[in-house]
Amino acid sequence: MRDFIDRLTGGMTTEEKIGQLNLITPGDFTNTGAVINKNAEETIRRGNAGGIFGIYGPDNILPYQKAAVKESRLKIPLLCGLDVIHGHKTIFPLPLALSCTWNMEMIEETARIAAVEAVADGLSWVFSPMVDIARDPRWGRIAESAGEDPYLGGEIAKAMIHGYQGGDLARPETVLACVKHLAAYGAAEAGRDYNTVDMGRLRLFETYLPPYQAAIEAGCGSAMTAFNDLDGIPASANHWLLTGVLREKWGFDGLVVSDYTAINEMTAHGLGDLQNCSARALAAGCDMDMVGEGFLTTLQNSLKNGSITMEMIDAACRRILEAKYKLGLFDDPYRYLDADAPSHKILTGSHRKAARKAVAESCVLLKNAENILPLQKSGTLALIGPLADDRRNLPGTWSIAADWQECVSVHDGIKKLAGDSVDILHAKGANIVDDPHLAERLNVFGETVVIDPRPPQEMIDEALATAKQADIVIAVLGEAKEMSGEAASRADIGLPECQKKLLRALKRCGKPLVLVLMSGRPLTLAEEHETADAILMTWFGGTESGSGIADILFGAEIPSGKLTASFPVHVGQIPVYYAQRRTGRPPTGDPLEKFRSRYLDIPNDSLYPFGYGLSYTEFSYAPPVADQTELNGRDAVLTLRVAVTNTGDCDGYETVQLYITDPVCSITRPVKELKAFQKLLVKKDETRDAVFTLTADDLKYLNADGDAVFEGGEFILHTGSNSRDTQRISITWR
Ligand code: NOJ
Repeated sequence: MRDFIDRLTGGMTTEEKIGQLNLITPGDFTNTGAVINKNAEETIRRGNAGGIFGIYGPDNILPYQKAAVKESRLKIPLLCGLDVIHGHKTIFPLPLALSCTWNMEMIEETARIAAVEAVADGLSWVFSPMVDIARDPRWGRIAESAGEDPYLGGEIAKAMIHGYQGGDLARPETVLACVKHLAAYGAAEAGRDYNTVDMGRLRLFETYLPPYQAAIEAGCGSAMTAFNDLDGIPASANHWLLTGVLREKWGFDGLVVSDYTAINEMTAHGLGDLQNCSARALAAGCDMDMVGEGFLTTLQNSLKNGSITMEMIDAACRRILEAKYKLGLFDDPYRYLDADAPSHKILTGSHRKAARKAVAESCVLLKNAENILPLQKSGTLALIGPLADDRRNLPGTWSIAADWQECVSVHDGIKKLAGDSVDILHAKGANIVDDPHLAERLNVFGETVVIDPRPPQEMIDEALATAKQADIVIAVLGEAKEMSGEAASRADIGLPECQKKLLRALKRCGKPLVLVLMSGRPLTLAEEHETADAILMTWFGGTESGSGIADILFGAEIPSGKLTASFPVHVGQIPVYYAQRRTGRPPTGDPLEKFRSRYLDIPNDSLYPFGYGLSYTEFSYAPPVADQTELNGRDAVLTLRVAVTNTGDCDGYETVQLYITDPVCSITRPVKELKAFQKLLVKKDETRDAVFTLTADDLKYLNADGDAVFEGGEFILHTGSNSRDTQRISITWR
């Protein structure tokens, strides 16, 4: 590879090298930002683009690749990228939903299927995984994340990289992955997208950086910068981050691409004109400029005035060419462009089957009073709510290539599963939102919110009349697809008021009430927790939503999902997460004791904590048992066993979680931190052991320089079914 690229770059002009650093979107039919590049084919012919993104389909991509390979002087093929986030055309549940499976094999499989479909559709590069830690559910992009925990986030990042890249990009049906958004984009102040991020280095290393590092260690070939600044320097020009940490500390040798016009936006951040910003970005370690063409139009001048060097351009160009080489594009620039592939590689039966399983496993059962679920396949069921027979919203955010008409609605999923044994009555009951201005903003990517013009009370009355004829009421409520995702922050993360009113009315009719929720973020559900008899969080499940949800509702699949982001009681608790750093004045049991860290009006605890999720069966946990409680040295290995017994009425999967606390340390540490987990099938009446092995490395913490430090002494190990309900054992490790 080195010799090949040496020979190639030896014959390149400076302009051609800079051309490789330019990533453009022809913007034919997808638009993931405000700006698009005009005259893309001509730009490519002139050797002024290293890649394109935002389009898919071999027929659509072919003219651009031909322009590069047949008509540009050096015939260098293009990288062809797209935001393939949770599946390409077979849409899987949202990343936040998939994380709730805690099933790394399944997550890897979804990425593998996404890669197969992406390759069949002409793509060699996917802008995924997004591994930003998100502890603020007001931030709409929490939907794209794996939630609040750095350890779990890192495990998921690895699984996705393996799924996309398959260990070797030269293998067929693999795509270059792109970990994003470096760094800490999920910590936007006040949960407002693109807002500033400010945090200490300790928190950055301990909480926000580990998933990116895990992706790099798993061999991720590219990384995308974030829109936000860090310590006052926008991420795309942050030398400390892109060179000091990413390349020098973590050894990353892949390519770094800016986010969409992020370099241009540094001007709005207040860092000066495009020439200055582009020079700073390149010098910081950003190799490729997405859409903004700042590199293309200014780097020659910056080279002349000495603010950048030829070595910087050479290094960036080499990394882009290396990615193309690894993908096999120099051997065959058309290897991703098989016109026949889409017809037999996309939306196949096996992909749909995997998607259906993923929907069921992503669902989190939040409440199930008196085992109202699973439902019997008999009687009359009232299916109420704006999402009960909806398909347009099911793909969820960031599903660019999705065709909603391929999606299975909850109504159709139930009908198919239950057949004629259940009578299904249906009424909309409420709009997703009543405000036409909000609906207009939510419909930017096509109409997903269709407002029924009838007065709200008329719709509620119709729903009540329907509910009265049924044995059980299933209310399918939640957000519209575009209420979460990019630029979709919400200050109030409750159900829209019109849906709350509907639920209150349904409660009054006295029938057993099951709430099936769809959303791309944790919601505030304190009222609904009291109102509904059962609550099933289904997120946005993608193509097979309705089938997977029906599987859960009727017990064909047993719920096993566990939350990966805490659900607050109230937005006032945000940021909300279990691994809080310890305060000097923790709350006590005595509410009259003043001078304690707590609210006067709400509890400190979340409504549903990280790791929480019910099953149709019950699991009882024995206390954890360690093979030794006094350990010495860095080579020692501790084995911890937890016996879990299925005491309920059916087989079920249980994710056993292991957390640690470091009670005495030279710095403050979180109250609990996830260190390991195991998802076990425990059959009815069976007892199984979750067995964890821990080394001293697992007990290290990352300090403010990002170095892992071991401090011997006491450690408390907690095991249990969620971050709140755990049993403990103390060990000493010196
Ligand atoms: C902006 C988003 O922040 C990023 O995640 C995405 O990959 C790019 N747009 C390209 O569409």
